[in-house]
Amino acid sequence: MLNYLGDKKDERMKMRNRYRKSTALRCDAGSRCLISVVIGSLMGCILLLNLYSAIRPADEIGQHIHLRTSHHLHFPELEEVEEENIQIPPPRKRSPRATKRRPKKTTTLIDEFLDEDSQIRHKFFPDQKTSIDPMITGNDSMFYYPGRVWLDTEGNPIQAHGGGVLFDERSETYYWYGEYKDGPTYHAHKKGAARVDIIGVGCYSSKDLWTWKNEGIVLTAEETDETHDLHKSNVLERPKVIYNSRTRKYVMWMHIDDVNYTKASVGVAISDYPTGPFDYLYSKRPHGCDSRDMTIFKDDDGTAYLIYSSEDNSELHVGSLSEDYLDVTNVARRILIGQHREAPALFKHQGTYYMVTSGCTGWAPNEALTHAAESIMGPWETMGNPCMGGNKMFRLATFFSQSTFVLPVPSYPNLFIFMADRWNPADLRDSRYLWLPLMVGGLVDEPLDYNFGFPLWSRVSIYWHRKWRLPQGWNSLK
Ligand code: DGJ
Repeated sequence: MLNYLGDKKDERMKMRNRYRKSTALRCDAGSRCLISVVIGSLMGCILLLNLYSAIRPADEIGQHIHLRTSHHLHFPELEEVEEENIQIPPPRKRSPRATKRRPKKTTTLIDEFLDEDSQIRHKFFPDQKTSIDPMITGNDSMFYYPGRVWLDTEGNPIQAHGGGVLFDERSETYYWYGEYKDGPTYHAHKKGAARVDIIGVGCYSSKDLWTWKNEGIVLTAEETDETHDLHKSNVLERPKVIYNSRTRKYVMWMHIDDVNYTKASVGVAISDYPTGPFDYLYSKRPHGCDSRDMTIFKDDDGTAYLIYSSEDNSELHVGSLSEDYLDVTNVARRILIGQHREAPALFKHQGTYYMVTSGCTGWAPNEALTHAAESIMGPWETMGNPCMGGNKMFRLATFFSQSTFVLPVPSYPNLFIFMADRWNPADLRDSRYLWLPLMVGGLVDEPLDYNFGFPLWSRVSIYWHRKWRLPQGWNSLK
């Protein structure tokens, strides 16, 4: 139980000592001397580098910024980072009596976003008439329009919220799984969050990541047994599926909760086929801890991990799964302690682990942050807001969305698709999808805590686009 996260006091001490400890290497006198020389020269280089960057002329800095942003120019489709300038409409006329009773509050763009009657609602939730219909091939074929209604091959809006994508190597097909929320939105209690009864997990298949065929509800809600985790009155969120090549099973993990979010558990389901049906196995509190927003990640060596918000969303836990992916092991770590993050979306780039998270504000959007680590078990370091383009309010609200998954684009090692949900708490079934290009490259904006100003990690950038498509031929190069 060496790595088990139960003993928090011990862990806290370890966290405090981590960086102190790392300098006290245990070795003999000779190697200690060699290490001192290496560290000494490294520090010297870093000092010189820092000194150089402090005194170099301004135009060189301009050039440097150009270099930092130029990496996306390899993809002509992504060259243009569009500016979206949404104006807050002037306040509606109110009677002097109403003003006296309730003085006017200043409105933010987030207030407008959450206001069902906002005059600029169409900006956030474009009309059905602007739907993306993959069956109509024309000039707009293969273009993503973040925020617009996205239809499946039968002409129905895709229902795969809080979802993730699995690339099934056996069938060379992408499968998109997510919350099927095509039911009425209501509040179970006056102060409870908006909700839709559990219907199940939707699954869609695609060869081109743009045309999606509805494969049906692959894990269905329980209609009658009120004690069942999947009873429609409960909560099923953020389902993710990975394939286990040892057992040849598709394994689904999801957030399972009761209507008040007090059960705070993970659920596990299994299937022989990517299109289900999935058999629901059980739920539990992983490592004995509360678990709300979560994701799973399958590493290159086949080891899979569960990452979940815990301790009332104040921190995340990361722990490995058993070989059959059906349970957690006792190897787990507490990460991003006290940072209050949720909606984790994890990916790997050239041996480094990256994660995008959101803050904890219910269905309302907030600022995304990127974190990076050399080992998935940490330490994880927070790098800042990855959002680029749009206007400042857009960037501070993750373009009015919340992270759910990051999908690598084959043949383009620096290019990923950032998948996010633009939740519509007034009508959750009409929540929209934001797929945006995410790129890794260039230097991070801010000096990091533990690297002496030396950039260990690259910047993660998510670029706002009103319309974009993947580089042509991305799929044929796989
Ligand atoms: C934020 C989470 O990220 C969502 O998955 C959902 O649980 C909402 N909170 C509910 O308010």
